[in-house]
Formats: sequence, structure tokens, C-alpha cells
Amino acid sequence: MSHWREELKRSETPEYLYDYIVRVIEHGSDQFHFPGGVMEGGYVPKDAAPGLACYVMKLGGHRCPHPASRDAAMYFSSVCAGCHGNDGKGLHGTYPDLTRPTLLGIAKRRDFLRQKLAEGEARTKLSKPLTNP
Ligand code: HEC
Repeated sequence: MSHWREELKRSETPEYLYDYIVRVIEHGSDQFHFPGGVMEGGYVPKDAAPGLACYVMKLGGHRCPHPASRDAAMYFSSVCAGCHGNDGKGLHGTYPDLTRPTLLGIAKRRDFLRQKLAEGEARTKLSKPLTNP
């Protein structure tokens, strides 16, 4: 249970957001059923993903824990903006808004973690009378 609590705490950090965005850029995403469909991974070369993640964080008003790369804006406008828009806002709901305060993937992961923690607590309560009669 403690690793879930630890991850929940870590999920508030810029480093966690950064890792999530890099992962989506590299591997894609297929869990939210947007009208625009799914996102494939690997639209940009692997070494472009970190700088691009920083660029996305900045669009959303987050400070990136790593230096931005110079080609990030070029990659974003030529590759990502076709779906997410130049401002990252997602073309009127057809694609996800990358500037929302909490990205969908992170919100969903937090819900999962909170649920696991609640289940763990419920089990602890149930088992108390047995271990401590
Ligand atoms: C062909 C359209 C398309 C392109 C191009 C595209 N995306 Fe996406 N992106 C999507 C869709 C659709 C989703 C939601 C997928 C799902 O349902 O899980 C998504 C999800 C995301 C998410 C997760 C959003 C969240 O709220 O959790 C991030 C981050 C992201 N894209 C960044 C990028 C970046 C950076 C690029 C450029 C390399 C890019 N996308 C290119 C369509 C696209």
C-alpha cells in the first residue's frame, strides 16, 4: 500500500508530469475515446520526446524540470498541432486539451491509486477484529 501512497504524492510533481508526457509521445495513448480516435506513439524521433514534453508542459503553464530543446516548437507545430492545435487546446474537444490543469492520464491514475488505498484501508479495518480480538 505504501508504494501507492508514495506514487500519489509523486503524481503532484513536475517530474511525474514530464515522465507521463514523454511516455505518451513515445508509446501513444488509447484510453479516452476522443472523437479524433487514438494517438500513436513515435510521431517524433525518440531523442525529440524530452524537449517536446517540456514544450507541452509550458503550454499548460507548468515549469519543466529539464531544459527545453530548440527544435521542440518546430516539432509541436509540424507534428502535434494537427490534432492538439497550436495552442494545445485540442480543437474543440476532438482531441484532448493539453493545457488542462491535470492531464486526463494523470487524473485517471490518481483515481486508481486512491481507490487502491481506500480498498487497502477497508481491508485493514476488516481484519482488525481477527488480529486483535
Ligand atoms: C493524429 C492525432 C494526434 C497527433 C498527431 C498527436 N496526438 Fe496526442 N493525442 C491524440 C489523442 C486522440 C489522444 C487521446 C488518446 C486516448 O484516448 O488515450 C492524445 C493524447 C495525448 C496526451 C495525453 C493527454 C491527457 O490528458 O492525458 C498527450 C500528452 C499528447 N497527446 C501529446 C501529444 C504530442 C506532444 C504530440 C506530438 C508529438 C501529439 N500528442 C500528437 C491525438 C494526437
